[in-house]
Amino acid sequence: MNKKYVIAIDGPAASGKSTTAKQLAKKLKYIYIDTGAMYRASGLCTIFQNVSLDDEIALKKMLDEINIKIEYAEEGNHIYLNGEDVSERIREADITKLSSQIAVIGIVRDKMVELQRKMGENGGVIMDGRDIGTVVFPKADFKFFMIADVKTRALRRWKEAKEKGENISLDEIETELIWRDKNDSTRDISPLIQAEDAIPIDNSGMTIDEQVKKMYSVIKRGSNA
Ligand code: CDP
Ligand code: CDP
Repeated sequence: MNKKYVIAIDGPAASGKSTTAKQLAKKLKYIYIDTGAMYRASGLCTIFQNVSLDDEIALKKMLDEINIKIEYAEEGNHIYLNGEDVSERIREADITKLSSQIAVIGIVRDKMVELQRKMGENGGVIMDGRDIGTVVFPKADFKFFMIADVKTRALRRWKEAKEKGENISLDEIETELIWRDKNDSTRDISPLIQAEDAIPIDNSGMTIDEQVKKMYSVIKRGSNA
């Protein structure tokens, strides 16, 4: 496989995109770009700079000056916002909600898409998000759309929260996932939707290994069909 592909993975929250993308990137020696982290960092930036989501002028100024850097590391990417490592802070619940709220705003999406296209222009990247196969790279070499039923996804996130020592109920997690999926798939600009030519991967009953193997074999075959 000499050609450096662009691989897009989209899908709802906790469907296993990033886990899979990280493992595929390792196997292929590609760069993994977590675009959700960029929307999360933008949301956090509004808190740091006290910018209201309704204030388009302040928001535009913030975006003109924003510096989001993704540093690639074996144990997981580090995200820097204007020089500060915010990798852990952006995973907290308030930022999770804010990321979905800021992601409906056109000027925010324009800026993120511009940065993402630049990051992927030379290929050799796996990008995960909501609009990668539809908007960011509509001509991506491979497009996957990950799905899993909401109960499975909520349970996965609940287990993660428990491991981190967070005290949150399964019901709360499920309610948050349902709200976010709805907000993401009903927005006017770049809603979460499966690209026509994307391969759906329903991993409700699959292990991570099984889904990685399945997607890797599609890529090795060299065809999205
Ligand atoms: O990136 P996204 O929000 O789509 O999901 P993720 O963070 O990759 O995955 C959410 C959780 O589901 C992680 O703890 C994974 O280990 C787990 N998981 C999975 O991704 N795939 C499976 N087949 C089973 C579990
Ligand atoms: O990891 P999880 O699936 O929970 O969320 P994420 O991928 O970190 O994305 C956080 C939020 O950013 C999503 O709920 C979307 O609202 C937004 N997002 C987006 O609009 N477009 C993308 N390409 C990636 C994320």
